[in-house]
Amino acid sequence: MIYVTRKEHFNAAHRVYNPSWTDEENLRVFGICANQNFHGHNFELWVTVKGPIHPDTGFVVDMKKLGDMMKEAVIDKVDHRNLNLDVDFMQGIIPSCENFIVQIWNILAARLPELSSTAQLHYIKLIETPKNYVEYYGEYSGSKTL
Ligand code: NI
Repeated sequence: MIYVTRKEHFNAAHRVYNPSWTDEENLRVFGICANQNFHGHNFELWVTVKGPIHPDTGFVVDMKKLGDMMKEAVIDKVDHRNLNLDVDFMQGIIPSCENFIVQIWNILAARLPELSSTAQLHYIKLIETPKNYVEYYGEYSGSKTL
């Protein structure tokens, strides 16, 4: 099994808060991330795909096509957007990195068969700040809606 990784970049704003809580509760739990007027991050999205090497191409998956698919399916929908207000797949969800990465996984996993019948989504890393990132291997099935 070979693992190939593509990285893409985007900027997005969010406000991390629970709408069923008071402002005081949100401030206590989320701190300035609950700032009413939102705040932004320079995100990096790393996507690792695994599979056999295709004998005709020598590729697991064409990484340029993987990048194009990431852009069309995810980046174009979130870049320079507000995750709370502008992004369909984040509606009704607290826009934490944890919830965000699960949504991204679901979108990419559904699209990957367009690029390869043998490659599988293996791993996603979403970097929010130089200090914080989240990783996901598709192993979570908990409730995510508010
Ligand atoms: Ni934030």
